[in-house]
Amino acid sequence: MEYKEFAKYYDNFYKNKNYHKETEFLKCFINQDDKIIDIGCGTGLHASLLQQNGFQVDGLDLNKEMLDIAKTRVYSNLYLQDVLDISLNQKYDIIISMFAVLNHLKDTQELEKALMNLKNILTDGGKIIIDLHNPQSSGSKTDSYDNMTRTMKWHYDKKTKIEDSKIIFEIEGKKYIDSHIFRIFTIDEVKQCCANVGLVVKKVYENYDINKRGSSISKNLQFLICKVLF
Ligand SMILES: C[S@@+](CC[C@H](N)C(=O)[O-])C[C@H]1O[C@@H](n2cnc3c(N)ncnc32)[C@H](O)[C@@H]1O
Repeated sequence: MEYKEFAKYYDNFYKNKNYHKETEFLKCFINQDDKIIDIGCGTGLHASLLQQNGFQVDGLDLNKEMLDIAKTRVYSNLYLQDVLDISLNQKYDIIISMFAVLNHLKDTQELEKALMNLKNILTDGGKIIIDLHNPQSSGSKTDSYDNMTRTMKWHYDKKTKIEDSKIIFEIEGKKYIDSHIFRIFTIDEVKQCCANVGLVVKKVYENYDINKRGSSISKNLQFLICKVLF
């Protein structure tokens, strides 16, 4: 997904996504003085909600158009960088990566590289929370609100673990089409990639609920990851 043309419609498109609930979930892992970075922060919705709760949150994203919107609501450092090539001279107590950011990576080699980069900016004793998409089937849905009609069609191939999606949205008579390819990572793949770089998955949750354990049939998975300390 390019997120270029889409950036200015992103917040409206995901207006019904429960960023407040997700932020409450994230707060369970954060102490007041923690240094936080949001990887793939997009338009900065989690970062700004955390900011409203008194936390200071830096952000990093590959896409300038998304970061330009984040700049209007996030008052700390925002970095235009790729998770596969992070260059920061600072460490964080909490690293979050919400809403399928790492599903944009193409395979477990890239996932491992990204996790290694996150480990390198994590304090000893720090926590990484990664939110991954975990589709169960193919499908489509159309809905309308405000002056927008949106149609999403997705095809999930369990064999290749690839989800191919098309998003069509019509606003004020103009039609926009965007598409993305997500690599879906299994819990075991994430655990193995973590182990390969000296990280460990402590817990897997689903649906942004501290009381719900994630499994292969969850629609989304949140991984709590820490460094292996020797
Ligand atoms: C679905 S959006 C999620 C944005 C935000 N985290 C949220 O919850 O609304 C995915 C974001 O990941 C970013 N992204 C994708 N690949 C990336 C990469 N390799 N490095 C950094 N950011 C990436 C995109 O630019 C986009 O802003």
